[in-house]
Amino acid sequence: MIWGIIGAMPSEIALLQTQMSNVKKETISGLTYQSGVIRGKEVVLCCSEIGKVNAAMCAQTLALRYNVGCMINTGVAGCTCDDLTVLDLVLSRDLVFHDYDWKLQEKYHPHTSSFPGDPGLIALAQKALAGMSEHIGYKLGRIATGDVFVEDEGLRRSIIERTHPDCVEMEGAAIALVAYSNQIPCLVIRCMSDNANGDAGMSFDTFEKIAADHSAKLLLSMLELAE
Ligand code: ADE
Repeated sequence: MIWGIIGAMPSEIALLQTQMSNVKKETISGLTYQSGVIRGKEVVLCCSEIGKVNAAMCAQTLALRYNVGCMINTGVAGCTCDDLTVLDLVLSRDLVFHDYDWKLQEKYHPHTSSFPGDPGLIALAQKALAGMSEHIGYKLGRIATGDVFVEDEGLRRSIIERTHPDCVEMEGAAIALVAYSNQIPCLVIRCMSDNANGDAGMSFDTFEKIAADHSAKLLLSMLELAE
């Protein structure tokens, strides 16, 4: 099985790139796909760039051009729940869009407004977390995706009221929708870089790299453990 791995920003794939061997690169529609091996597993790694459209374009290429057997999105997010803090992780129990009309999504393709994380990948992530030497706080929760960096208190409140997420980011649900449409198991792993509030910009600048690496470390452990 080929693992399709997406990070939206260079920081989100940096650690994974250092662990990759036999690398071959191909650029399609402006995005560069790196095929190779990490921890003995065949992977295709791509930096999708930010936002839902870029992420969907990347995921669809992984599905059609590389025939990946699963899709993992690793990266950072803004925390919107009370029981996690910066540098804790969220595993996607499910993903929703916070800037898309749920009723329309249910009426038209893909006829659902919530995209569950794959149970097998969730179990693998939980096993990997249990075996990691450093303790990492995490939650199996809801991730809400939209084309905005959330740092406005009013927007944060409105997203929480409407979608009840544990964190917000800008790609996960788009990747999950593409995976769902192609019947490919998918998991989104996000490490909290900020609290999606007025301090989010400063917190993001401070914690982006360390949070991105935390998420990637979990993925490395998953690849190590996988059959
Ligand atoms: N990714 C990391 N922090 C975020 C935030 N506050 N809003 C959207 N995406 C994010």
